[in-house]
Amino acid sequence: MSTVLPPGSRISGTRLAALLGPWRDGSGRQGTARLAASLRQLVLEGALVAGTRLPSERELSASLAVSRTMVTSAVDRLRDEGLLASRQGAGTWVTVQAATREPGGWSAMSEPAPLDLALASPAAIPEFPAAVDRAARRLSPLLAGGGHQLQGLLELRELIADRFTRRGLPTGPEQIMITNGAQHAFALVLRMLVGPGDRVLMEQPGYPNAYEAVHAVNGRIVATALREDGWCLTEMEAAVRQAAPRLAYLMVDFHNPTGLRMTAPERHRLAALLRRTRTMAVVDETLVELDLDHDPAVVPRAKVAPPPMAALAPDQVITIGSTSKLFWGGLRLGWVRTTPELVHRLGAARLGMDLGSPIMEQLVLAELYAEAFTDESTVVTRRLASFAHGRDLAMDLVREHCPGWSVRRPAGGLSLWCDLGAPISVRLSASARDRGVRIVPGDRFAAHGGLRHRLRLPYALPPEQLREAIRRLGLVAAELADQDGPEHEGPVLPVT
Ligand SMILES: Cc1ncc(COP(=O)(O)O)c(C=O)c1O
Repeated sequence: MSTVLPPGSRISGTRLAALLGPWRDGSGRQGTARLAASLRQLVLEGALVAGTRLPSERELSASLAVSRTMVTSAVDRLRDEGLLASRQGAGTWVTVQAATREPGGWSAMSEPAPLDLALASPAAIPEFPAAVDRAARRLSPLLAGGGHQLQGLLELRELIADRFTRRGLPTGPEQIMITNGAQHAFALVLRMLVGPGDRVLMEQPGYPNAYEAVHAVNGRIVATALREDGWCLTEMEAAVRQAAPRLAYLMVDFHNPTGLRMTAPERHRLAALLRRTRTMAVVDETLVELDLDHDPAVVPRAKVAPPPMAALAPDQVITIGSTSKLFWGGLRLGWVRTTPELVHRLGAARLGMDLGSPIMEQLVLAELYAEAFTDESTVVTRRLASFAHGRDLAMDLVREHCPGWSVRRPAGGLSLWCDLGAPISVRLSASARDRGVRIVPGDRFAAHGGLRHRLRLPYALPPEQLREAIRRLGLVAAELADQDGPEHEGPVLPVT
């Protein structure tokens, strides 16, 4: 199935020439073939997202200093392959194979997998049962009430607000709504702000369940490419100008799946863009606390994270957060932080969906949260040390068992974003399953297809399992390197 999107934001000849890099190695037919191959690579790896309009052939030939005939022939080839489309008056734009999405894959979330690298869901912290005991002892007074608290327990909202304030964003409990996780938080915001046909700007690669949430409200995804070196603010500015999205959804702190963190100057430029264009943005902070290179001996835990994006564009940014990575996904709690007015509107939107989050779980979270970020607490320090160990181990294992892959060391988050060197991730995922390893191919992290040369490799498994899983992946990768064949649609796996 091919996704033929309408043309979207335009890339300039100079920028495209820079992305193409040193592709040239020949003239005539050989040069055309190489130019087509380099363009194809950019499309398939998602560096040029679906909908991106190419510069005119005249402009591109000038930027590349090659003949117009060469550019025309290369573009013709990609059009024949279905990777580009053109229309009189609208020019030429990228249109790629849809990602392997189909209903039903979620059921795997309930089945135990022997070696599960599909979910970036770590086991619960060891301190969890003790927090449950303490919470149970504090439950009695609350049992006298009806138990429906749409906005969430005041005590917990105060703790979460306090963490924001300490991070440089003054916040009161009236600005917080407790939700059943960050995914629920995003769904609630979408329900409030996005209607059928509305555009939502999202990163590609990005978080698959966030794409799903936008599909669920019949929103239209406008993808902005995240490259090896991070966000391209110039392209994002062009996309916002041209698509005028109703909402943006961004993960600026330890982006899933790349682990990238936006730099301070980029944050300021992004905030200026949101303010200038009055674009609302959901900033997903699910992974913000997972700064794996942070040394609490040098910078106290209480001061660690940079100011949240909402501090730079308070009227534009809605922040969502989660406890799934730091404590346990089974807690199913997260939050929205926004203005009191929007919290009120969220409440109205929520009534048709559910009537609040479980009280007992909120008490457990309050127990954990009250202690977590103090300098005396070892809970978070130990948790992050185990993730950092997982990351370093996974890097070493990939180098040892998968020498053809390239991978950058992420400063935070829970996964490596591996470049397989060839678009084999769907086949690799299917073959890995036969060897008892569950892993999600790269194209699931693409809004509109591509990224089949990528693989997200979470490192949250216990070391022994991680070792065995990557050893088996290495065997599969070696087998595939000996075969040459087309990619087939693989199984659809749930992702976190
Ligand atoms: C970026 C991102 N957002 C949201 C979620 C979902 O979080 P929760 O379990 O709180 O719903 C995840 C989980 O992996 C995630 O990585």
